[in-house]
Amino acid sequence: MTGTTLEVLLTEEQIQERIRELGAQIEADYPGGEPLYLVGILKGACFFLADLARALKRSARIDFIGISSYGKGTTTSGEVKLTKDLDMSIEGVDVLVVEDIVDSGVTLNYLLHVLMQRKPRSLRVAALLDKPERRLRPVEVAYVGFRIPDRFVVGYGLDYAEDYRNLRDICVLELPSV
Ligand code: IMP
Ligand code: MG
Repeated sequence: MTGTTLEVLLTEEQIQERIRELGAQIEADYPGGEPLYLVGILKGACFFLADLARALKRSARIDFIGISSYGKGTTTSGEVKLTKDLDMSIEGVDVLVVEDIVDSGVTLNYLLHVLMQRKPRSLRVAALLDKPERRLRPVEVAYVGFRIPDRFVVGYGLDYAEDYRNLRDICVLELPSV
């Protein structure tokens, strides 16, 4: 679209370096031999989950859950629904929910309630990005990649109307004003 600009906020190298650090921290926090269940929230978290999982040397299992809370715009619709459930049972296991970005907190607040009812042994969140200024619902995020200002970002899994997910860097998207 004419007038649309992308400005790099976090480079591929910065993202990968931070994920290595998060991996080491997670590794130290879960010393047991039991597998850690990584639950990625579709679709935005898919690249982060792939890189985070490979930053771990411990055993890990991977599953995905689908949640929709956003329409085509850049602000939350406030509505959350489960669009794809987990394939595996999480009862009695250590679960780490892997999310691209925590914004209002509405999505994660809802999802954590749903997952808690399934009685995991532990339940924590790893989010690559956090926009703390925008929080409407409380969410405890154990592992945060980067705290970022209140700007709309795309790339490395994050989209605007399904575009830009495959950018290697994370960029601020500016749309032409109408
Ligand atoms: P929340 O429920 O408001 O916390 O929204 C979380 C979801 O909104 C994320 O999983 C993203 O899919 C989407 N989202 C929030 N902020 C951005 C952004 O800056 N760029 C792209 N997607 C975003
Ligand atoms: Mg999302």
